[in-house]
Amino acid sequence: MPIHTTPNGWVLETRLTAYAFGLNAAGMLVHRYWGPRLPRLEDYSPAMDSIGWASFNGPGEIVPEEYPAYAGSKYIDPCLKVTFADGVRDAVLEFESSQITGSELQVHLRDAHYPLRVTLHYCVHDAYDLIERFVTVHNHGDTPVTLERAFSAQWHLPLHDQYRLTHLAGAWFKETQIHREALRSGSKVLESRRLTTSHQHNPWFAVDRLEHRATEDTGEVWFGALAWSGNWKLTAEVTVFGSTRVNIGLNDWDFALRLEPGTGYTTPTCVAGFSGQGFGGASRRLHDFVRETIVPHGNAPHKVLYNSWEATTFNVNQASQTELAQIAADMGAELFVLDDGWFHGRRSDDAGLGDWWPDEKKFPNGLSPLIEQVNGLGMDFGLWIEPEMVNPDSDLYRAHPDWVIHFPTRTRTTMRDQLILNLARTDVQEYLIASIDGLLTKNNISFIKWDMNRNVSEPGWLEDSEPKSIWVRYVEGLYRVWGTLHQRHPSVTWQGCSGGGGRADLGILRFADQIWTSDMTEPTMRLQIQEGFSQLFPASTMEAWVTDMGPKHLPLEFRFHVSMTGVLGVGANLLHWSESERLEAKRLITLYKSIRPVVQEGDQYRLRSAFESAFSGLMYVSKDQSEGVVFAFRTHIPDPELLPPLKLRGLEPEWLYEIDGVSGARSGAAWMHVGLGVALSDFGSAVLRIRRVDGSG
Ligand code: DGJ
Repeated sequence: MPIHTTPNGWVLETRLTAYAFGLNAAGMLVHRYWGPRLPRLEDYSPAMDSIGWASFNGPGEIVPEEYPAYAGSKYIDPCLKVTFADGVRDAVLEFESSQITGSELQVHLRDAHYPLRVTLHYCVHDAYDLIERFVTVHNHGDTPVTLERAFSAQWHLPLHDQYRLTHLAGAWFKETQIHREALRSGSKVLESRRLTTSHQHNPWFAVDRLEHRATEDTGEVWFGALAWSGNWKLTAEVTVFGSTRVNIGLNDWDFALRLEPGTGYTTPTCVAGFSGQGFGGASRRLHDFVRETIVPHGNAPHKVLYNSWEATTFNVNQASQTELAQIAADMGAELFVLDDGWFHGRRSDDAGLGDWWPDEKKFPNGLSPLIEQVNGLGMDFGLWIEPEMVNPDSDLYRAHPDWVIHFPTRTRTTMRDQLILNLARTDVQEYLIASIDGLLTKNNISFIKWDMNRNVSEPGWLEDSEPKSIWVRYVEGLYRVWGTLHQRHPSVTWQGCSGGGGRADLGILRFADQIWTSDMTEPTMRLQIQEGFSQLFPASTMEAWVTDMGPKHLPLEFRFHVSMTGVLGVGANLLHWSESERLEAKRLITLYKSIRPVVQEGDQYRLRSAFESAFSGLMYVSKDQSEGVVFAFRTHIPDPELLPPLKLRGLEPEWLYEIDGVSGARSGAAWMHVGLGVALSDFGSAVLRIRRVDGSG
């Protein structure tokens, strides 16, 4: 039983960790503990009592309230902000009751005066050492209540310590760069105001102690991620009394939700955990959780795909695609994806979006003849769509100019010549469901790449009684469209894309089994992007193509090895590849298929960071620890240079293992403590399989 009710409050226990909170003498719901699991329930100290010792020091700055609403003298960053119909903007939440159902604890709070109920939900994922939190707010009154902020959770770090925040920042072409910085007095805000998760920041955090820095393998790390694909906000606040908290949820910027009488709202979830095994331990917990509980097709292996975008861009037709498909099939690709350019009127990026039927000139007999040829070559067929968008030059826009997000009195700013359909509207949702359902019903399509190629502008939705709800209702509409298509076509695999990794989050992974990591496919840059991505996402969700991008001196093998650390794909112009390059690709694709189960289902260990060194490495180990695969990369290091041994991880110390090309078996302990010497010249790379040799495993 992972949830305990004790005289001091509640203790949520996972395999290795615990999280405790309870009521203090003043009736405040207060955080008590988050860290390694302790032997006895009495070990978790009682809730701190309210302290307020001067007229300028309210209790909120030191007492770690579990879910603070803006009220009274709370100057800290609150989780909830409401306005009642009479204009009162102060929510006084009092404990009402609690309820345990299986592995979920619900704590019901109620406003002291108004019939507003707030329920805190805690789902304990004990096998993963994770706790998932979300909140429901319900208006039981007969007048509306306006929500101006409704965060998913506030996470408190142990009091009186100083911390360091690790987060992911970047841009289009340079997503998920790892940043680490000290948290000092005040607030550090990370957010998206772009309608999507954004290339710029990701709603994930990891916090460790400033003085006892965690490493990949050691030290204490508190971490979490928000499952939401729209505007979000994270505030890491250090109060003047040394209380550090991370507040996370929907962005409250330009935000309002109107709760009509008798209605409620449920926030996105935030999953978080504590790792005593450094950043690597934190990532592996999330990887397992994502693979086993979030993505639609679980651990099913992902196919090696070929995507024709970089080869043919918008100039697609049956002949050009068949030619590429034949070469891809010979190389061992299992899935052929026709990217942008195939639909009605799509001559370039300035036309066609919205008209989701095959272009009559490019595909006079529809897509079926091409799909049959692709299937005949032994490959599945996949298709690119960008449902949320419309070009002004399209039949859809000419018929429904009012369907886009806009302000009537403002110019509609186009980006990449496109506008955004307002997915908050049910008529737009129905149009998209019908169009894509039609495509999937008429054609044998196994895979869809769902793209989204711009950020928002003029975020108007004036028809609605609360136009500022568009940020939430849009994402809910997106989830409804995608979820409905999922139900109707459960065998289709979806890839989430937003100009690369502009919408990579745990929310989209409920629909998309994989994410197109970045449009940047130059492999040395990819090493860093992929390392950042791996902080929270498993390799099985990381689509990685080999393309022609980057300097010619980068060997094809290096390009492949980088992509083989995730879900291997090829996106190059195969017509330009020589026969020997195609044969080399075939060899590497065969190698990938042999290591795929370990890469996609195993535990990942980052051995050397590509952010810190031009010699980097990582490895994957099967869950039973009987086999693994080691990847090593050297970019440019001036010679002479002796590369240090790679200290392997995740092996069983007592077992004997052999490694490809290295003579003699050694114990797991030896590979982990003495290490593996890898000789690489500039832009050299290695993929080495490791196998247990002293037993059945
Ligand atoms: C952006 C994606 O990231 C690319 O892979 C490609 O699909 C283009 N869009 C097509 O327009």
